Parts: sequence; structure tokens; C-alpha cells
Amino acid sequence: MVNKLLSQLASVEILTPKIDDTLWFFKDILGLHEVGRKDRSVYLRGWEDWYAYSLKVTESDTAGVKEIVWRTYSEKDLIDSINIVNSNGLGLGWDEGEPDMGVGKGYKFILPSGQIGKLVWEMKIWRASGELRSGYKARPMKKPTKGVQAKDLSHIFIFAYNDESLAKTVELLKRLTFKVNEILKEGDKRIAYWMAVNGTAHDLAVSLDPSGVPARLNHVTFNVDYADDILKAADFYTDYGLEIVGGPLRHGITDSHSLYVKEPGGNVIELLHGGYLNVVPDWEPIVWDTKEDENRWLYYWGHVKEAFWHGSPIPANRVSDELKEIVRQKLGAKI
Ligand SMILES: [Fe+2]
Repeated sequence: MVNKLLSQLASVEILTPKIDDTLWFFKDILGLHEVGRKDRSVYLRGWEDWYAYSLKVTESDTAGVKEIVWRTYSEKDLIDSINIVNSNGLGLGWDEGEPDMGVGKGYKFILPSGQIGKLVWEMKIWRASGELRSGYKARPMKKPTKGVQAKDLSHIFIFAYNDESLAKTVELLKRLTFKVNEILKEGDKRIAYWMAVNGTAHDLAVSLDPSGVPARLNHVTFNVDYADDILKAADFYTDYGLEIVGGPLRHGITDSHSLYVKEPGGNVIELLHGGYLNVVPDWEPIVWDTKEDENRWLYYWGHVKEAFWHGSPIPANRVSDELKEIVRQKLGAKI
């Protein structure tokens, strides 16, 4: 029996050196809804996200990811999850959460790939009131009338900075009850994993990073309602001078429609439509090979530009001093 510990990816905090332009992208182009502001952060949600926010955008001197938040299935599962990260020496301690956003205290830890994760149990379901209340009973808020109308947070794709970091990250995530659905290998070497806790093809992916810098983000992804929304987005991106770095395309791995753009702050943001559901308990991961399958693991049709392979830039000298210290102490990595 597998007792699932984590229910879902609840939110992602990204950094931007151009907060106003980044907010324009997420609100006016993607159509996310702003639910609040605090200090240098703005909280955003898709119209079908179940909690108050799924994206926290924080002003910084660089792009990248600051925190990845997962909800557990219960208070006990939170404690069990904390014990797992602590047994690996990765725990960083509690924070007070975001009570005004319906998010309780969380336990922070560092992934072996260098990004900061957080485990939370207490999280209130969010429902709009007043003029934002939807005519559809099950829908948490009205679908917005502008932009691409991105629906909800799909997944985050992170980099691991060397072979050991990748192997240890996957091992930890499997202990936290992620199911590995697909794997990419190059010769005998496994270089990327697509996995999920929520029954989709992936709510998290991690791949080897050729730059060797810890804590880097590849991309963050939102789902769209209709496949046509991918084309609508590509049209908006071109119309408004945004750099498309990949797609529209059809992924081999996860079997979905996709489009990647660089938002004005430098983060790569993907839109996704489709893909399979998979709750098969004794699933054996599908293994792709960069030689035998060529680029079909990434796209059967469509293509990506060179910029896609670099993900969201976060040069080592722009990583915050606080994160550098955690990476040095907890992972023993040079940064
Ligand atoms: Fe993705």
C-alpha cells in the first residue's frame, strides 16, 4: 500500500527584476487575477485554481524560482513528510505561512537540486464572492474576459546541477510519494524525469542542468481550457513583442500541446493543453532515449528555439546571499 503524502503543487513563487512588466504579462496577457499585494510580492490565481493563489511574483534583482509549495493530505502526512526531508538533512524550519491568504504555517526545506520547497497542510479553499462569483456552481471564480484566460497552475520544471543532485532529488521526491511517469536518458545516463502526485502526467519535472548552477528554474506552466488557447497565446505573444522560445508543439513526453514564452522578467512560462491522467498504481515509467527517439520526447511536431534549452536565467552571481549560504551548508555545493 502506498500512502500518498502530498496532494498537489499548491503554488510557486517566482522572482522578477521587472515587476511591473511581469505583472502586465501575467494579468493582461495570461489573464491571471490579482488577489493581493504584500511588501514586494503580488499574489495571482487562475480562474480554476482551488486555493487563493497559485503564483506569487516577487520583485528581485534576478529572475528564477524562490519557493515551491506542496500541500499534504493531512496534518499527519505533513509530519511524515517533514521527517523525510529532515532525515536527509534538508530541513530549514517553519514559517508562519500566509494567513491572510488562507495558507497556514509551512515547513521549508531545500531540494538536493538547490530550490527551496515548502510543505503545508492548512490551506483554505478559495471561492469568489460578489461580482467575481461564477454562474457555474463548481467554478471558484468567473473566467476572465481578457487575455489567454489561463486556467490553473500545471507544473514546475526545475534543473538539477549535476548527476548526483539529480539522483538525490528524484530519490527524495519518490520518498515524498511522487510517481515517476516518464524518464529521458542519454545513452546509459538518466537526464530528466517527469513525475506527479496529483494523477496528471506531471506536476513536477527535473532535468540535468548543463550550466551546473544550483537552484535554477527551467519553467513554470499554466493549463489552458481549450487547445485553441495555445494559438491565441502565440498570436498575443507575437502581437505584443514577447519572445516565443518554443512551440506551438505537441510533446512526446506527457502527450500534450505546449507553448513557451519568455516573460519580460526573464522567466520561461509554458502554457499546456491536454496530456494524460495516470493513477495506475504499478506503473513502470516510459523511458525515452535522446538517440533512438531524437527530439520526439520534446516534440512530434512544432519546434523549440535555442533559448528554450537555457530555461530561466539565474547566473550564480545573482543568487541571493541567503540561498547561497543554504546551498553551501546543506548541499555542500560550490556557488
Ligand atoms: Fe513543462
